[in-house]
Amino acid sequence: MMNFQGSHILSVSQLDREAIARILDISANMAPYAARQKRCTVLEGAILSNLFFEPSTRTRVSFGSAFNLLGGYVRETVGQENSSLSKGESLFDTAQVISGYSDVIAMRHPQMHSVEKFAKGSTVPVINGGDGANEHPTQALLDLFTIQSEMMHFHKGLDNLDIVLMGDLKHGRTVHSLSKLLSLYNNVKVTMVSPTALQMPDSVVSALEDSGHQVIITDTMAGNLSCDVIYQTRIQQERFASKDEADLYRGHFSLNKSIYQQYCRENTVIMHPLPRDSRPEANELDSDLNDLDSLAIFRQAQNGILVRMALFALTLGVEDQLTQYEKEVNWHTNKR
Ligand code: CP
Repeated sequence: MMNFQGSHILSVSQLDREAIARILDISANMAPYAARQKRCTVLEGAILSNLFFEPSTRTRVSFGSAFNLLGGYVRETVGQENSSLSKGESLFDTAQVISGYSDVIAMRHPQMHSVEKFAKGSTVPVINGGDGANEHPTQALLDLFTIQSEMMHFHKGLDNLDIVLMGDLKHGRTVHSLSKLLSLYNNVKVTMVSPTALQMPDSVVSALEDSGHQVIITDTMAGNLSCDVIYQTRIQQERFASKDEADLYRGHFSLNKSIYQQYCRENTVIMHPLPRDSRPEANELDSDLNDLDSLAIFRQAQNGILVRMALFALTLGVEDQLTQYEKEVNWHTNKR
């Protein structure tokens, strides 16, 4: 069994099915704490350093809220311009210093593998909040948690899943990490819909095919969207050489209610890691889908709190205390 305590979480490749099942189970147990129906202070006095060197709304704030909900404090650094990295300090030196101030570090950085490089200098666990176009492991875990929760309504699980990944599959780190996790399950069908120039990297396709899964690669939506889950993504303009280049691909695979009703199943679950680009020229997920129960995007974002709480509990080794704490709280409650 994987020992999480003191470990960095840098890539989904570190995880097997048993480790994922443990994370997802603990995430589910976090729901009453996240909803503040129950209170928990197992991380009282502990400090999270949130280092976000690239824009973020969900990942940064949910890491912080998750830590607060377990009783800990959060220190934030946002933007390279506000960090001494802009004065030429190395990632290793920054890690040596910040890990001396913290119990755990969450980090996002625009360069691939930069978080791994940073972790080599850290004396405390480092959690990858996204490193360039490489990976976004905590997003993939919350995506898996969401798929599991949504599929439960249809008496399905993560095996035998029929999923469509759509949009900028070349640069979208969330779909890279999610595909690697899906390769661990049985009999998964993955349809990858993207412009030819923005296809999924070969290494990610191979990971699925080598595990015996069916992969369909196409640049056409018509006839390819009948599935359990459609996972839409944004054109990742920040990974292109110029806005003009990104503009070549924007708006080609927009999903709206009319396309959904024409090509998806009646209950196809719609996911997106967010942010969705709502500008008219992009609009990859139209707001006319907002009234559909099958639009899971905001439940998905909310699940980020649960999964990140679970990861903090595991990497800081307080998961057992949480269980113990719950037993004691129940015992005191029952005594009254
Ligand atoms: N899904 C996601 O990573 O969102 P943010 O960029 O807002 O953190």
